Amino acid sequence: MTPSDVKATLSFSDGSPAMELPIYKGTVGPDVIDIRKLYAQTGKFTYDPGFLSTASCNSSITYIDGDKGELLYRGYPIEQLAENCDFLETCHLLLYGDLPNAQQKAGFVKLVTNHTMVNEQMQFFLRGFRRDAHPMAVLTGLVGGLSAFYHDSTDINNPQHREIAAIRLIAKMPTLVAMAYKYSIGQPYIYPKNSLSYTANFTRMMFATPCEEYEPNDVVVRALDRIFILHADHEQNASTSTVRLCGSSGTNPFAAVAAGVACLWGPAHGGANEAALNMLEDIQKAGGVERIGEFIKQVKDKTSGIKLMGFGHRVYKNYDPRAKLMRETCHEVLTALGLENDPLFKLAMELEKIALEDEYFVARKLYPNVDFYSGIVQRAIGIPVSLFTAIFALARTVGWIAQLNEMIGDPEYKIGRPRQLYVGSGKRDVKPLAQR
Ligand code: SDX
Repeated sequence: MTPSDVKATLSFSDGSPAMELPIYKGTVGPDVIDIRKLYAQTGKFTYDPGFLSTASCNSSITYIDGDKGELLYRGYPIEQLAENCDFLETCHLLLYGDLPNAQQKAGFVKLVTNHTMVNEQMQFFLRGFRRDAHPMAVLTGLVGGLSAFYHDSTDINNPQHREIAAIRLIAKMPTLVAMAYKYSIGQPYIYPKNSLSYTANFTRMMFATPCEEYEPNDVVVRALDRIFILHADHEQNASTSTVRLCGSSGTNPFAAVAAGVACLWGPAHGGANEAALNMLEDIQKAGGVERIGEFIKQVKDKTSGIKLMGFGHRVYKNYDPRAKLMRETCHEVLTALGLENDPLFKLAMELEKIALEDEYFVARKLYPNVDFYSGIVQRAIGIPVSLFTAIFALARTVGWIAQLNEMIGDPEYKIGRPRQLYVGSGKRDVKPLAQR
């Protein structure tokens, strides 16, 4: 953080003493006004529900420019990473700050590969759930349950523990997501196979059965690997902020990431990919492209409570660069699988076209986000809709743990404890029951 020559001055119309506030500059992006001394000096809080104007931390991991539609992981544009790297290279980048060379990559892949199994006791957690439980309910429980097994890596103040916990979480999420899926369809779990790549191993754990050899499909593996890269991190979004706040109490990384899984489940956040696919299927069932106009009318009618899922973003007020890449992946995968005439993809492109020409969306700067197309790709490669957000959680785990470790590694970090504007009842006395 570089102190700016410019200072902010806060003055009050009632003549209360003015206050000078330092401003800091980052590498790129908006400067910040340091208000850490505001309450001590003025007895006042700032007020920013939803944190529209609040920087909660300083970070070197991910940068987003909402106006330019730009996303950088450790300075590298997402388009270049999606084109030239695989997910584990991206994990190395997010965790350690740079892309690995060939030797570093080989070592990192070996490290992750050797941690993909979970304790055999984990399967008994699943038995407590109904078979039709939502996979995100199961995953929230499984990830939190990991903290019951790895006491040798939960001292978050020990850098080695932080690193091994990061590797364990990245390595085990595919195994847990696949176990949740197999449990929901009543099939036996498939153990990890170390001879396969990270993402090929995940597809085998998802789709293989003990009855025959399974050969990963390169198109599916490449598409999923790109989906993982696009979802790996995204600055201080709701679930990442949840992981940071939860981790700031000193709890173990498995518990903090479980909190992130729970937050991501919400339809306004990671649950949007499942909601967007269901929305497209509903429009399709109601008649497809010719029903788009009526649907858009419902969306514009605030009383309907209907939103165009997969559209809009707190930061991107221009196109989400991930949505563009996801649409390309959609086209590649559907063509490779002979599904180029997939009616849902055509419907999605028509819906996007109409929305982007409609004043309601233009005026509100609503563009497709990463969730608008990701469901179509996942459905095409055989991922059930209810598992979409679990796939998002699998990918986002590296971002959550990288951000958590960055916070814990900062000697200045404190437990997060926001304040409030109290608007409840003034002090009053309890009346005896007979007088209430
Ligand atoms: C993700 O933060 C991240 O980085 C998240 C994420 C990540 O990688 O971590 O990018 C992943 O969560 C992507 C977002 C997925 N969510 C959805 O697709 C759900 C639909 N989108 C909306 O719920 C909404 O756009 C949000 C939650 C994403 C953003 O909401 P904001 O920034 O709080 O904006 P808002 O709700 O104040 O909306 C501003 C206006 C409102 O209209 P007015 O009151 O001004 O008339 O835009 C309207 C909203 O009603 N609006 C929409 C809309 N999104 C916003 N209207 C119709 N459909 C939508 N999708």
